Amino acid sequence: DIYYRKAKEEGWRARSAFKLLQIDEEFNIFQGVKRVVDLCAAPGSWSQVLSRQLYLPAKYSAESKEEDLPLIVAIDLQPMAPIEGVIQVQGDITNARTAEVVIRHFDGCKADLVVCDGAPDVTGLHDMDEFVQSQLILAGLTIVTHILKEGGKFIAKIFRGKDTSLLYCQLKLFFPTVTFAKPKSSRNSSIEAFAVCENYSPPEGFNPRDLHLLLEKVGSPSGGSDLDCSSGWLEGPNKVYIPFLACGDLSGYDSDRSYPLPKEADGSSYRSLDPIQPPIAPPYKRAIELKKASAQSFNS
Ligand SMILES: C[S@@+](CC[C@H](N)C(=O)[O-])C[C@H]1O[C@@H](n2cnc3c(N)ncnc32)[C@H](O)[C@@H]1O
Repeated sequence: DIYYRKAKEEGWRARSAFKLLQIDEEFNIFQGVKRVVDLCAAPGSWSQVLSRQLYLPAKYSAESKEEDLPLIVAIDLQPMAPIEGVIQVQGDITNARTAEVVIRHFDGCKADLVVCDGAPDVTGLHDMDEFVQSQLILAGLTIVTHILKEGGKFIAKIFRGKDTSLLYCQLKLFFPTVTFAKPKSSRNSSIEAFAVCENYSPPEGFNPRDLHLLLEKVGSPSGGSDLDCSSGWLEGPNKVYIPFLACGDLSGYDSDRSYPLPKEADGSSYRSLDPIQPPIAPPYKRAIELKKASAQSFNS
């Protein structure tokens, strides 16, 4: 995989870094950003992008003062190795207490950008995976309604499926511009795409505590047949045109293609690099230990 190889060569912890970079190429999401939340951040390649694009340039700029440095808060269920300029919180984004911890870090200030690359452990049962994925997006949206400033942006991974138009309508309640984007580094074979939501504008008088009531009014998953996004409610013809955009340099690397390995500078065959940062406590660690133990007892 060309992006996996390039990620190691450029020092990214995961190939996902290219997805965020390509979304930025198209939508300029980092412009003017001083405070950002990275939801579901482990192993940390998006946080690395945020650190390299926002924190490090400010840190090494002669004009920046300590108080001007961007604030980056990253959250994941899994622990993550440190990244310069990134505050880490280990927790479940669907848990209200995690949201409170994030909000406390912002100390009354609002974020300019919230990104969420959350993905459940995929089961292969598409309906189930899509449902759990939408729960992560809704958890992200809950955090957004508490900490995103008006005019701010929200980028969230989605799984395209039969409820995509419902999700689109729900996001449109809060953002006048919502585009579903497929970065060039995201494989065509994957149902993954990214909702790029711009210009956060909650409905007048909106109270974040009423989020779920508001979302339910748009319709229950698969329950509604008459989605009309112009009003956001369940009425009118079932006519939702979702802006869908391929992004990133379209003449660049194709994630569904294989490329020949280049030679090393001395003419020898390409030497594969080790991963930049293996997960420090992967959820599969226990399974591997159990498998090894059972193989040993079988052999003896
Ligand atoms: C695709 S990975 C994110 C990759 C990351 N953006 C990067 O660039 O390195 C998805 C992450 O979602 C996290 N995740 C899934 N459900 C979560 C939840 N409920 N709360 C917090 N993190 C969650 C997983 O632990 C996993 O690390």
